[in-house]
Amino acid sequence: MGFRALVSRQGSAPQTIVSGVEELALTALPEGEVLVSVDWSGLNYKDALVLNGIGGLVKTWPHVAGIDFAGRVVESRDARFHPGQAVILTGWRVGELTYGGYAQRARVKADWLVPMPKGLNTRTAMVLGTAGLAAMMAVNRLQSLGLKARSGEVLVTGAGGGVGSIAVMLLARLGYSVVAATGRPALSDWLTRLGAARVIGREALSDTAGKALGKEQWIAAVDTIGGAPLGEVLKQVRYGGAVAAVGNAAGLGFEASVIPFILRNITLSGVDTVMQPFDVRRAAWDRLATLFAEGLYAEAVTEARLEEVPDLARTLLKGDIAGRVIVTPKPD
Ligand SMILES: NC(=O)c1ccc[n+]([C@@H]2O[C@H](COP(=O)([O-])OP(=O)(O)OC[C@H]3O[C@@H](n4cnc5c(N)ncnc54)[C@H](OP(=O)(O)O)[C@@H]3O)[C@@H](O)[C@H]2O)c1
Repeated sequence: MGFRALVSRQGSAPQTIVSGVEELALTALPEGEVLVSVDWSGLNYKDALVLNGIGGLVKTWPHVAGIDFAGRVVESRDARFHPGQAVILTGWRVGELTYGGYAQRARVKADWLVPMPKGLNTRTAMVLGTAGLAAMMAVNRLQSLGLKARSGEVLVTGAGGGVGSIAVMLLARLGYSVVAATGRPALSDWLTRLGAARVIGREALSDTAGKALGKEQWIAAVDTIGGAPLGEVLKQVRYGGAVAAVGNAAGLGFEASVIPFILRNITLSGVDTVMQPFDVRRAAWDRLATLFAEGLYAEAVTEARLEEVPDLARTLLKGDIAGRVIVTPKPD
């Protein structure tokens, strides 16, 4: 039996990728113990890089992108999973090194799957997706470093994006006073509805090169953009505070000095979702299932068909998508 997939191929011009829906045979799928019927996949920043041929994440073409998906088990050679069971996949470089979620079928290693937590379904799981998992892990990290509610403001950068907006919601629901930093003032009302106490512009993180410290403002920060703004965030964290570095939408490198670390006792802590062990993932998904308010987030969800994904990936890279895009592999 064949299945629909968004197949990406290298175009004739250097670094151009052309993607279109094709029918594939099951034999095209990689090795793995579990065959999944995909209900929903997500459109993440990394998917947009893959579909635009940026970053060298894919080594072999043609390729099926989609770094996360949720669906139901069709066949399993692993006792932990049975046909009909709802499962989530994020990370493990699926959608980069192996075929991913932009297809009606995906085959993966059983070790990579997480059973659907109570309270989530396959659609909600992909509304959250890798973005939600990253936001949850960032919050978990800050809490493990001693972040206490009602002791000051927590900054979230790139607040209009997937990771940022979910981090705003999760922190607010945990009782933190959240300040959302966005380059899009038009998103202020939405971010406030998600729980932000205040919304500030990106210019609050503009370059103050030459200054080792800024005004102490944040007890902690979830940084989804990296680049030069991360260097500025570090200068603004209050004594003893911490920053969870999750993303790089604003760039890779940043200017920093040891001064905020040794004078203000701050911590910079990296967050990865891709290679996390099963127990950490499951705990994060269980916590998401209890904290995420699907109804409150509903206005920020765009449903897309496979055919629409390449255009949406270009829009995402321009920073023009608010919230999350979820992708159905079903035909019309
Ligand atoms: N560590 C992990 O395991 C992990 C997991 C998931 C995602 N990530 C990373 O986290 C980041 C966010 O992912 P996402 O899926 O949330 O992407 P996204 O939905 O595209 O959000 C990124 C947001 O960053 C802001 N932004 C974009 N370009 C910018 C620029 N040049 N300068 C400053 N801000 C900019 C925009 O927010 P505003 O318009 O509101 O400013 C944008 O909405 C990405 O770098 C992604 O690779 C990492």
